Amino acid sequence: MISKMKKIALFYSYNTKNTSKAAKLIQETFDSQQIEKHNVEETNEEEFNAYENFILGVPTWFDGELPNYWDEFLPALEELDLSGKTFALYGAGNQKEYSENFVDALGLMAESIESLGGKLIGFVPNEGYSFEHSKALRGDHFVGLPLDFEVQPKLVKPRIEKWVEQLKKEF
Ligand SMILES: Cc1cc2nc3c(=O)[nH]c(=O)nc-3n(C[C@H](O)[C@H](O)[C@H](O)COP(=O)(O)O)c2cc1C
Repeated sequence: MISKMKKIALFYSYNTKNTSKAAKLIQETFDSQQIEKHNVEETNEEEFNAYENFILGVPTWFDGELPNYWDEFLPALEELDLSGKTFALYGAGNQKEYSENFVDALGLMAESIESLGGKLIGFVPNEGYSFEHSKALRGDHFVGLPLDFEVQPKLVKPRIEKWVEQLKKEF
């Protein structure tokens, strides 16, 4: 059995369309037993704090904002010390319709996690995307994996496969 320490908790909203699709692909690409999925809309801080390794699914909504369910859960995390814990972020966005705010929520989540002591992994180069501005960019890398189901649907699966290979080394 894989211990809780080695398990990777995948938190996202089960009510999302694209973020859920990506979660399924991520789980299939990993050794599925290693991934434990949780609905962020129904979780609590104890369930969250039981893990050391995390993948968080964070789509961008409302012109550059986190979705409500993440905004509502983040204050609960502020009670926790996330130091020593490792986080990989992925986020759905649309680089054409929301070129000025492309996957901004990834950047917002990255700031929150780091301010609580968490370590981020899974950065990907800004290559193959076309947009004006993103809060998720640090230099020439995103702070997680941007997925664009509307403009680049065919790239979703290969991007996830490549990212999971990277995460297997970085976790
Ligand atoms: C009202 C609305 C606002 C959005 N705002 C943004 C945005 O600011 N930045 C972005 O990259 N994508 C934005 N999107 C695109 C969504 O992130 C994209 O459709 C994503 O695939 C939704 O994922 P989900 O189905 O998991 O919620 C927006 C979509 C809608 C409908």
